[in-house]
Amino acid sequence: MNTTNMTTKINRATTSRIDQVDENDIKFASVYSDHMLVSDYDDGAWQDAEIVPFDNLSMHPATTFIHYGQAIFEGIKAYKTADGKVRVFRPQDNFRRFNLSAKRMAMAEVPEHIFMNGLHDLISSDKDWVPSTEGSSLYIRPFMFAADEFIGIKPPTKFKFMIITTPAGAYYNKPIRIYVQDKYCRAFPGGVGFAKAAGNYGAAMQPTVEVQDQGFDQNLWLDGIEKKYIQEIGTMNVFFVVGDKVITPSLEDGTILNGFTRASVIQLLKDRNIEIEERKISIDEIVEASKSGELKEAFGAGTAAVIAPIAEMHYQGTDMVLPAQEEWQISPSIKQELADIRYGKAEDKHNWMFDIN
Ligand SMILES: Cc1ncc(COP(=O)(O)O)c(C=O)c1O
Repeated sequence: MNTTNMTTKINRATTSRIDQVDENDIKFASVYSDHMLVSDYDDGAWQDAEIVPFDNLSMHPATTFIHYGQAIFEGIKAYKTADGKVRVFRPQDNFRRFNLSAKRMAMAEVPEHIFMNGLHDLISSDKDWVPSTEGSSLYIRPFMFAADEFIGIKPPTKFKFMIITTPAGAYYNKPIRIYVQDKYCRAFPGGVGFAKAAGNYGAAMQPTVEVQDQGFDQNLWLDGIEKKYIQEIGTMNVFFVVGDKVITPSLEDGTILNGFTRASVIQLLKDRNIEIEERKISIDEIVEASKSGELKEAFGAGTAAVIAPIAEMHYQGTDMVLPAQEEWQISPSIKQELADIRYGKAEDKHNWMFDIN
C-alpha cells in the first residue's frame, strides 16, 4: 500500500517482525525495525525521500564508497515516556553535524526537510518499535555514502542517504578501564576528527582490539602531534572532576567530535552553577591530579552509554585509580537528570526533546 504522509512517501511492509523483539532482553542491533528511509542524490538534486520495507541493498561492485570511503553516519535515540509519547533527543543537532561531516568528505549536504521530516515519519511509522522497558530506546542510524559507479578517484556526484533503526536495551554502566594511547593516534588538526566519518571508526579498531586484549575497555586518545593533550575516548567525549571543578577538552582544533551528550552535560553543570572549563588538558595534569587526590571523577559521555564512569586509567606503566563510585558527587546525578529529561520525568528546559506525532 502506498500512502503519502506530508513529504515522505510510504510503502508499508505487509508483515511486521516486531515479535522478534523481547523487550525484557533486547540484543542491540540483532533486529532492525520494519521500515527504512531512502533518498537518492543525482544530477545535483535530491529526490523525495521514501519510507520502504527494510531490505538489503544491491550495488555495483565499483560503487565509490566501497573503494574510497566517503561514508558518514549519525547516532540518535528515541525514547518512550510513561504515558506512551515518543520523543527523540536533539536530532536537529545531529542533522547539523551530519552536514558538517558531509561537507568535509566532499558529499552533498542533505536538506533539512529530508533529514528531519524523514526521521519523524520513519519513527512515526515504526512507533511500536520504540521499547518501553526502563532505560531502553530506539537507536536511529542516519547514514550516507557516495554511490557513483566508477573506480577512478574523483569527487562523487551520486549519494544515497538512508535511516535505519534498531531497539536498544538499557546500557549497563560497569565502570570502564581506560588505556591512555600513546602509540596510535585518532586525529590531528586539519584531519577529519570532528566528522562522523566511517574511516575514523575503521582506523580505531585495531588499536582498540590491542588494548582490549590487555583487559582495557577503550583507548583515551591523545593529540596526534605531541601525544600530550587529551582528545576523547572511543565513541565518547571525556570529562574529569578535579577538586570542585569539571574540565573537558575544548573543540577548537577540529580533532574531537562535538558530542551532544557532552554539550548537554556542560549545560546541566552550568544550570547547577558548577564550574566547567572547556580547554586543552594535558595528560600530565591528570596524572598530577590523580597523585594529589584531586581527581574525584572521570567519565565518558556519548549517545550509547550516556555517561560511562571510569574506574581506572593506565598511562605509561602507571595506573590512575579513581575513588569508589559511592564517593562521586557530580556525574551520577547529571546522568539521572539527563535520563529524567529523556523519559519525560523532568522538565525539558532547554527544548532538547523532539516529539513524534
Ligand atoms: C568519536 C565520538 N566521540 C564522541 C561521541 C559522542 O557524541 P554524542 O554525544 O553526540 O553521541 C561519539 C558518538 O557519537 C563518537 O563517535
